[in-house]
Amino acid sequence: MALSGAGSGFGRRTTTALAVLALTLGVTGGVVVAAGGSDDEQALAPSRKPASQGIEHKVDVLLAKMTTEEKLQQVQLLSDGQITDADAKAGVGSVFSLVDPEKINHFQHLAVEESRLGIPILFAYDTIHGYRTIFPVPLGAASSFDPKVAAADHEVGAKESALVGLKQIYSPMVDVSHEPRWGRIVEGAGEDPYLNSVMAAARVKAAQGTDYSAPDKVVTSVKHYVAYGQPEGGRDYNTTDMSEQRLRNIYLPPFKAAIDAGSDTVMCSFNAINGVPGCANKYTETDILKDEWGFDGFVESDYTAVAELRACPGVPNDNFPCGHQVAADAPSAAAMALMAGTDSEMVSKYLVTYGEELLDQGRITMARLDDAVRRILRVKFRAGLFDNPYVDVAKALDPASFGKPADLQAARDAAARSMVLLKNAGDPAPLPLDPDKTTAVIGPFGDDGPDMLGGWSGRGDDDLAPDPVTLVEGLRAQSNAEVTFTQACNRVNTFDPPNNANPPLDPEDEVCADDSGFDEAVTAATDAEQVVLALGETREMSSEANARSDLDLPGMQEELLEAVAETGKPVVVVLFNGRPLALPRVAASADAILEAWYPGTEAGNAAADVLYGVVNPGGKLPVTFPRKVGTVPLYYNHEPTGRPCSPTFKWNSRYRDLDTCKPLYEFGFGLSYTTFDVSAPTLNKTSVKPDGKVRVRIDVTNTGSVTGDEVVQMYLHDPVASISQPVKRLRGFQRVTLGAGESTTVTFTLDKSDFGFWDNSGEYVVEPGEIEVYSGSSSEQVSTAKTFTIT
Ligand code: BGC
Repeated sequence: MALSGAGSGFGRRTTTALAVLALTLGVTGGVVVAAGGSDDEQALAPSRKPASQGIEHKVDVLLAKMTTEEKLQQVQLLSDGQITDADAKAGVGSVFSLVDPEKINHFQHLAVEESRLGIPILFAYDTIHGYRTIFPVPLGAASSFDPKVAAADHEVGAKESALVGLKQIYSPMVDVSHEPRWGRIVEGAGEDPYLNSVMAAARVKAAQGTDYSAPDKVVTSVKHYVAYGQPEGGRDYNTTDMSEQRLRNIYLPPFKAAIDAGSDTVMCSFNAINGVPGCANKYTETDILKDEWGFDGFVESDYTAVAELRACPGVPNDNFPCGHQVAADAPSAAAMALMAGTDSEMVSKYLVTYGEELLDQGRITMARLDDAVRRILRVKFRAGLFDNPYVDVAKALDPASFGKPADLQAARDAAARSMVLLKNAGDPAPLPLDPDKTTAVIGPFGDDGPDMLGGWSGRGDDDLAPDPVTLVEGLRAQSNAEVTFTQACNRVNTFDPPNNANPPLDPEDEVCADDSGFDEAVTAATDAEQVVLALGETREMSSEANARSDLDLPGMQEELLEAVAETGKPVVVVLFNGRPLALPRVAASADAILEAWYPGTEAGNAAADVLYGVVNPGGKLPVTFPRKVGTVPLYYNHEPTGRPCSPTFKWNSRYRDLDTCKPLYEFGFGLSYTTFDVSAPTLNKTSVKPDGKVRVRIDVTNTGSVTGDEVVQMYLHDPVASISQPVKRLRGFQRVTLGAGESTTVTFTLDKSDFGFWDNSGEYVVEPGEIEVYSGSSSEQVSTAKTFTIT
C-alpha cells in the first residue's frame, strides 16, 4: 500500500551535501577535505525562475494586437532553406539551421522593421556538443560522470552560437536508451535516467545561465519528448510500446530535470508511444509537461513530425513524409498537433495554411492558439530579442571569435575526462606509453580529423572552426621519439551522400574493406617499440538515421588487430565510435583498450594526454557493452525475473549459446593507472519516515602509487515492492581526484524522491519496507548492501 502519493510537480531533492574529512592513512598523502555538495546533487538543484510579471504583461499587450494570421505565423518554424523575405515580413515565428550572420540580420531586419508588429524571429540551431569548438559527443561526456564536463561544453557552445545570432539550441538531447543499435544513442547520456538527468540539468544551466537574454547565452530545447530512445529493433523513428511505470521511472526524469533547471523549450519526438506519436500526444505534452510540471515555455515539433501524423499518401501530396496514420490529412494533422500541446510547427506549414479554416470549423480553438503564441512570445521576451534582435556581423565573421585558447583547453580537458580505460593488462602494462620509445600508430582512424568530431558537430568542419587534432598529431606533439603512421586500410566518409542515397556503400566496405595494407602495418609494428591501433566506426555510422544491425568493428579491423598482435608487440587499441560495441575479439587480442568515443576538436591532444599518463583516465561507461548484438537490449538497470539468468542451469533466463550472463563491460566500469578502495556505505539512520532524509557516506582511498580519479557510485534497490524494481539503480556519483594514498568521503542525501517509484497508474508511491544502498566503482563492483527501512 502506498504511504504517500507525490502527485504533480514532485521534484527531486533540494538539499545536498558532501564533505568531509577523510582519514589520514599511513602512506603518502594525507587528509583531503572535500567541500560543498556532491556535483550530481548540485547539478540537479532546481533553478527554474518564476514567471516575470513584467514579461507576462508585455506578452498580453502584444497578443491582444495580433490578428489570427499573425498568430498562425508565430507558430511557424521554418528551415534555412525555406525562409523568404515574405515570411519575415509576414511575421514568421522561428527559423532553424540558418547560421550565416548576414542572412540572420537580413531576415531579422525585415521582421523587426517591416512586419506589422515587429516581432523578432527566434533563430535556432543544433548545437549539441559545440558550435565551432567541438567537445566530445554527449555519450563521451556522459562517460566523464562529471557534470562540469557537460557544463563546459554547453557554456562554450552557447557562447559561440550566440555570436552568430542564434538564440535557441536544440539541445540537450536526453533520451535514455537501452538500444546500442540505435545510432542516436551517441547523442544522449546512455542507459541511466539519473546520469541523463544530471547531465541534462548541467547543460541547461550552462547554456542559459541565470538569464538567457545575456549576450553569450541561449535558450535550450530539451529533446526528443519522449521515449524516442527505445525504438523497436533499434531502428530510428520506429515505434515504442511503453508501460506507464517505465515511461515515468526511466524516460521522463531527464526531461523533468531539464525543465526544473529552467529549460524553456522542448522538442516533441517523431516516434509513437503506445500508438500515439510524440507531437500528437496530449498526455505527455499537456497533461504531464505543461500541467503536472508547470512548464510555461513552448514545444516545437521535430522536423516534419506534424506532417508524419498523416496517413499515406499524404493529402495534400506534398514532399513531406507521412505514415503514422493517426490523421487523415494535413488539416487534421495540424489540429491534432496543436490541440495535443505542440506549439510550433517545424518545416511543414499546415497550421499557417489551414489554421483559419480549422478555427472556423471548431477543430482548433482560439484559446489554444493564443496559449501557443503566448508561450513563444514569452520565450522571445525572456531571450531579450525585442531589445537586442541583431547580431554583430563583424564579430560573427572574425575567426578570432571562435576556438579561443581557453575554450580549446576546456574541450581538451573534457575529452580527456571522457575517455574510458577498458583494459590495461601485462607486467608492465602497456599504458601509459613511454614518450622516449618509438611508436607505430596504425589504423584507419590514426590520422583522421573529421571523424574525431562525431555526428551533430555543429560548424566544427567549416573554415572558421579550428582544425581537429588527429591522434598521430597529438602523440607526436608529446613524444621524444619517432612516431610513424600507417593507415593499413581504407576509411570512406559518406556524409551527405548524393540524393540521400543509402546505403552509399556496404558498411563493411566503409572501413577496412580489405587486408592489402596489413603487411605494411605488421612491418611498422615490428619496427616500433610500442604500437597504438586506432580503430572504430566512421562518424556517419551513428547519429540520426544510422542504426546498425551489428555491433562489432566494421570491415576487417579485428583482423588487422590480430595481425598486428601476432608481432608480439604490446598493442594499445584506441576506439573512436558512437555506440557501445561488442568487443570480445578486440579484448582477446589487445593488451590495452582506451574507449575515446569521438573526442572533438582536441581529440589527438586529449588522447595523447591519457595515453602518456599526463591525465590518468577516470571515465566510466554510461552504457553496457554487450558481448554479442543478439543479447541486446542488455542494461544494468533491468527488472528482476522469476528465473534470473544462470549459465549453469537450464530453466532460466539465459542464452543457450553463451556461457555467461554478464556483459563484456558493465555500466559504470572503467580502469585507471592507479587503484582505489571504495568503502561500504555508512547510513546515518536505519529507519526513516517517508518525508525524512537519509544521509549516506562513502569513503574512497587511492591505494595505488599515482594520482588518479575514481567515480564513487551509489546504487539503490528496493527488494520487495508492489511492482518489480530494477535490480540496481544509480542514485549518486561523485568523481574525485586523489593523490597516492589520499582518501576522501563522499556524502549523498536521500529523500522521498529516492524512496519510491512511479506505478502503472501514474502515481508516485513510497512503500514501507527496506531499501538497499550499495556503493562501488561500477554497477557490478559494489559493496555489500546497507539497508534502511521506510516506516
Ligand atoms: C532531429 C532533431 C533536430 C532537428 C533539426 C531532426 O531531424 O531529429 O534532433 O533537432 O532535425 O535539425
